[in-house]
Amino acid sequence: MINIAIDGPAGAGKSTIAKAISRIIGIIYLDTGAMYRTVALKAIRTGVDTRDGERLAALVKDIDIKIEYKDNEQRIFLDGDEVTESIRTPDVSIGASNVAVIPAVRMKMVELQREIARSSDVVMDGRDIGTYVLPDANFKFFLTASLDERAKRRYDEMISRGMPDVDYEEVKRDIAFRDKNDSSRAFAPLSKAPDALMIDTTGIEPQEVLRIILDKIENNETDGADK
Ligand code: DC
Repeated sequence: MINIAIDGPAGAGKSTIAKAISRIIGIIYLDTGAMYRTVALKAIRTGVDTRDGERLAALVKDIDIKIEYKDNEQRIFLDGDEVTESIRTPDVSIGASNVAVIPAVRMKMVELQREIARSSDVVMDGRDIGTYVLPDANFKFFLTASLDERAKRRYDEMISRGMPDVDYEEVKRDIAFRDKNDSSRAFAPLSKAPDALMIDTTGIEPQEVLRIILDKIENNETDGADK
């Protein structure tokens, strides 16, 4: 069984890299952020405040989240309906960061994530994969980049998805809020595992980041000395 963990803040390039690794090595890619986004979407749709721990704990008890793969792309379903696109709005991003603070929500998501890692070879991206979800992962990477660059990447992505009224400063503010919220929570915060390799992707093309990571995997280098 091969498990690869990729953590880091929003816009660091995790999903681009994880998708490429999944394609090249031929293993599945699990975007764990999509799961927290789906919980947030359900809360928003049912009028539950995304910071309300008690109501969120009740909401995740019987939530039905399913992951499927079509042409190697992850599709996500909430209570039977596909929500792959609907979870990509700014409201859902902030909501996901809020619901992710709540231990009952995390326990439920982590249970699903570990179940997938037990039954399949997987490259998983998120915030706590190397530190909490898969502490024994074969390979761990922590990607980061400057706030400006991450905001620019996310802004360009939203424009290319055809989202209207995208404002760069707002995107940057939202990312800064999530950085703080995700890193300061008590339970499984965003942090680099001591044995993860840190790669600052500021000004580096995805191809180069991918080369560094594939090199490590091909040479079976599991130590995480910082680059
Ligand atoms: O990766 P993303 O931007 O789609 O994640 C959305 C939010 O979900 C992020 O701000 C924090 C939370 N999250 C988390 O707490 N743990 C994970 N493993 C993945 C995401």
